Amino acid sequence: GTSRDTLLRAELLSFNRDPGEGDMPSPGSLEHYEDGLLWLRDGRVHAIGDYATLAAELPADCRVEDYRGKLIMPGFIDTHVHYVQLDIIASYGRQLLDWLNEYTFPEECRFAEQAHAQSIAEAFLDEQLRVGTTTAQVFGSSHPGSMDAFFSACRARDLRMIAGKVLMDRHAPDALLDGATGIADSERLIADWHGKGRLGYSVTPRFAPTSTRAQLDAAGGLLRNDATLWMQTHLAENPGELDWVAELYPGSPDYLAVYEESGLVGPRSTFAHGIHLDNAMRTRLAERGANIAFCPSSNLFLGSGLFDRHAARETGMAFTYASDIGAGTDLSGFATLKAAYQVGQLKGQPLTAWQGFYGLTLGNASALSLDEHIGRLAVGKEADFVILDESATPLLARRTARCTTLGERLFALMMLADDRAVAETWAGGTRRHQRG
Ligand code: GUN
Ligand code: ZN
Repeated sequence: GTSRDTLLRAELLSFNRDPGEGDMPSPGSLEHYEDGLLWLRDGRVHAIGDYATLAAELPADCRVEDYRGKLIMPGFIDTHVHYVQLDIIASYGRQLLDWLNEYTFPEECRFAEQAHAQSIAEAFLDEQLRVGTTTAQVFGSSHPGSMDAFFSACRARDLRMIAGKVLMDRHAPDALLDGATGIADSERLIADWHGKGRLGYSVTPRFAPTSTRAQLDAAGGLLRNDATLWMQTHLAENPGELDWVAELYPGSPDYLAVYEESGLVGPRSTFAHGIHLDNAMRTRLAERGANIAFCPSSNLFLGSGLFDRHAARETGMAFTYASDIGAGTDLSGFATLKAAYQVGQLKGQPLTAWQGFYGLTLGNASALSLDEHIGRLAVGKEADFVILDESATPLLARRTARCTTLGERLFALMMLADDRAVAETWAGGTRRHQRG
């Protein structure tokens, strides 16, 4: 029977690989059906192709949902975001270290209370789905309960998510410091949540200044015991931070070395920011297969600096696109790409829409080692996708009407779209958001 099948007729767009830096995507990098059919079964893509071609194979009794005029893309991925900072988004002024002390640490103290953690986890996931983000790598607070709340809320929505409890044992309010229990709490969370459904655990030392060497070493020990774990932290975001790290770790030749010496740099490691790096550090990250999460709206908000995308590409260092809420100013992948384009302009490194949307989908999935599951509309992949409405706002509709190519339309989305352009968000073959 076909009761377990869902069929959607729409324009379909997905990347098979990196489209390159050219004005046109490299041959074969794009999968595009102007009048396509996306056939779902058991939460995955069962078939994809031209509607006219696939229509012949359809069972007689099936119903095709008509989304003609809409554009379906893989769900967007956010490789670095703090769910516990949702409510301090847009807190005025200051650079990183003041911002942490003034807004972030006091806010994260509230997550000692389980009811608070649960309500913010719910609100955060609702916001993510509203902007079309179906997968993210997420920081909690240092309280293990913050992760129980988050993973439970993800499970209820059947989302593919990677997350971890923050490890921090110095240089913050006592109420946030986890001391020796941080590692044991992480082990308990790994046992309870890592590999459950579509969930994964990311070992999460906040950054070198708020962990002792002993805690960084213990975090590295967790990774050595289980090669399927992820690791997330921050690296080289702000000049004041660099000075502080040099002072705290006088024996380490540079900031990255602090993490290398504790065994934290590997193919499943994501380092947020990586603005103030030299090519030696970029090359070491490349050799280990780690990725830098480029967080342009955050970098602009905190005045941290301009990420050098060309140096990343020249050294082979992988990088991903991320919101970094609450220093970031928008959860939307469109807004992240718009900010990335603006950073690129200031560096003389303009970002094509091909690069941008590849990055938000397959690029981010590949860098997180999730590309066997998500990032493409392709047979066997999990059915996580967004249904976009390019006439959602009068201005977007006007601009799109003037476009004659797909590249122009994607660029207009990158500059003008927001949550209003996300008509629906699906995860695991189920509609999880529908614009009201
Ligand atoms: N470095 C250490 N902690 C944080 C944080 O919460 N946000 C940002 N942007 N940078 C950090
Ligand atoms: Zn961050």
